[in-house]
Amino acid sequence: MAVVITLDGPAGAGKSTVSRALARRLSCLYLDTGAMYRALTVKALDRGISMDDPRAIGELAARTEIRLVPDPDAMRVTVDGEDVTERIRNPEVSRNVSYVARVPEVRAEMVRVQRKLGEGGSVVAEGRDMGTVVFPHADLKVYLEASPHERARRRASDLALAGHAVDLEALEAEIRQRDHLDATRDVAPMAAAADAIRLVTDDLSADQVVDRILDLLQGGALAGRTAG
Ligand code: DC
Repeated sequence: MAVVITLDGPAGAGKSTVSRALARRLSCLYLDTGAMYRALTVKALDRGISMDDPRAIGELAARTEIRLVPDPDAMRVTVDGEDVTERIRNPEVSRNVSYVARVPEVRAEMVRVQRKLGEGGSVVAEGRDMGTVVFPHADLKVYLEASPHERARRRASDLALAGHAVDLEALEAEIRQRDHLDATRDVAPMAAAADAIRLVTDDLSADQVVDRILDLLQGGALAGRTAG
């Protein structure tokens, strides 16, 4: 039986690490939907499109093919056939992606592709609107949260590992700014679905979060039954 699990929440709450590990444990597809918005942002920046021009960004989305390619280690993302997996993590992309993700035409296109990818079988889908918009009938919906300070600390260590210089305070400010943009946009704002299970991850390791989610699955604590 195909199972759909959604993981939503703000940047740095642990979604990616947890989703990837969960998908591996369940041997199912991992859908990193943020990677798709980031990939389109790479193309928009390359083209010199202004982040204040939603119409141009929307038109670009209609002319762009973004693909998530399953890979034994992670997942690769391509834009019109070009592999941009590494580039999507560039800080410049992180700073601008919320402007791309708030364009309704962009979201419509992404949702279409994401639902199609979810049709193939079991999936762990990570993003901001997985439980609310893309997979409203998911079997289990999880919303991960953590304090902005803890999230900035995690992002800083990821960036440092990738060789980027980091300024913790600036990162925290950027995270707050991105949360604000993601949570207040008109279309599909970042939000927990009414039937999502909320987990605060400040004091939990990624493994502990994965175990909790697996417990929820095994205990049959599926969305809609344990909400509230
Ligand atoms: O999870 P992430 O940091 O890779 O997400 C990048 C951006 O994309 C983030 O600012 C919110 C946006 N996003 C979104 O609006 N909807 C999704 N399903 C996934 C990401």
